[in-house]
Amino acid sequence: MIAEEIKKAIRDIPDFPKPGIVFKDITPILKDAALCDRILDAFAEQLKDTKIDVVAGVESRGFLFGLSLAGRLGVPFIPVRKAGKLPFTIKQKAYKLEYGTATIELHTDAFEPGQHILIHDDLLATGGTVTAASELIQEMGGIVAGFSFVVGLGFLNGRERIAPINDNILVLAD
Ligand code: PRP
Ligand code: ADE
Repeated sequence: MIAEEIKKAIRDIPDFPKPGIVFKDITPILKDAALCDRILDAFAEQLKDTKIDVVAGVESRGFLFGLSLAGRLGVPFIPVRKAGKLPFTIKQKAYKLEYGTATIELHTDAFEPGQHILIHDDLLATGGTVTAASELIQEMGGIVAGFSFVVGLGFLNGRERIAPINDNILVLAD
């Protein structure tokens, strides 16, 4: 089972980046090329009935599988970046994290109004990041097609928070 393989590979780091946070370190997954391939297979298989025109990956860990996933699906990839990184004209949104605050941005020409955008990230915690990404995408005329994550922290109730946006939520290891 892919969920078990992912859970086994993830390394828990207590008190990072702040006391009280147990950080889910996915870098051991990235060292296992065959596992990365199986993760992409699982995403592609479980998303095959979802209408997706574009994959939006959230900086930085959402880029790791996001670009390859877009390749598997045969659709464009767009980077949702942290403030000050995108060079063209942008729209932005501020939000709260499990351990701080941040602002995300998209290029104004990242996608066409009416396109179906899959929001991808490595990890679902409180859901604050992908909620902000959804709001930004919707304000720019996009339709949120669903969400995909490698891993979820169930006790933070992110799934419940984002379900009203779209309940097509794929978490490989929940
Ligand atoms: C982490 C993670 C998700 C987000 C999840 O990113 O990669 O993007 O937090 O938390 P949430 O569900 O509570 O919003 P982080 O902002 O730490 O940036 P990074 O990917 O660059 O490490
Ligand atoms: N993003 C938000 N919370 C996290 C956690 N506990 N581990 C890794 N990434 C995170």
